Amino acid sequence: MSVITFDLPSILPYRQTSERVRRDIALLMHRVWPSSPAPSQDEAVPEEHDPALDALSCFIYRDNRLLSYAAVLNFTLSHAGQHFRTAALSCVATDPAYQNQGLSSLVVSAATRCIENSHADIGLFTCDPPLASFYAKAGWPVVSVAVIGSHDVGALSSTELGKVVLLRLLSEHAHQHAAAFANSPISLGLPLGQFV
Ligand SMILES: CC(C)(COP(=O)(O)OP(=O)(O)OC[C@H]1O[C@@H](n2cnc3c(N)ncnc32)[C@H](O)[C@@H]1OP(=O)(O)O)[C@@H](O)C(=O)NCCC(=O)NCCS
Repeated sequence: MSVITFDLPSILPYRQTSERVRRDIALLMHRVWPSSPAPSQDEAVPEEHDPALDALSCFIYRDNRLLSYAAVLNFTLSHAGQHFRTAALSCVATDPAYQNQGLSSLVVSAATRCIENSHADIGLFTCDPPLASFYAKAGWPVVSVAVIGSHDVGALSSTELGKVVLLRLLSEHAHQHAAAFANSPISLGLPLGQFV
């Protein structure tokens, strides 16, 4: 008899996640990006997301193992003299042994629905160019405008990182200022070293 597995993403503010889930997230980040530090057994797990960004965690466990993860980061950016509440996808990752099984599609869709149903004015994300078609299926169009971490010297930029920018205008306020998102680089206003 065949067994059908339903992988339902869990959705929880990161600040409400347990120490065990935080450890599993850090371990998954380390498996996917080995340069990301593995959590030490003896110490509390360092925060995966800056608390100021009020992250939402979307993740899938199977057989007690965290297999897939995506976060939504929330902040307000200033652009063209206006403030825009921004929701950004971040840390999209699936355990290398479980890729190409549709898991990221599930967590990215769940995260995207959360963004669409939030009070965000815009949804924003950057990714490597080959992955643009993957995110397009979840409703994330590529735009030609660049994103910079901030206006500070040394801030990260989508152009220098070789990333494409995915942008959703969600609110009436964002649509009213659509032209502003077609031209000048969008500054995230994040601390040096942070990006989406
Ligand atoms: C990208 C990633 C999150 C996809 O996770 P997944 O669970 O395998 O995703 P799904 O099974 O839902 O979908 C896989 C799709 O992504 C595509 N894909 C995965 N890696 C890709 C890559 N490097 N280049 C192009 N396409 C890629 C697959 O071809 C597949 O496309 P299809 O739906 O047309 O067949 C996963 O490969 C991963 O963790 N990669 C390393 C971390 C990373 O790059 N994260 C993205 C940060 S923007």
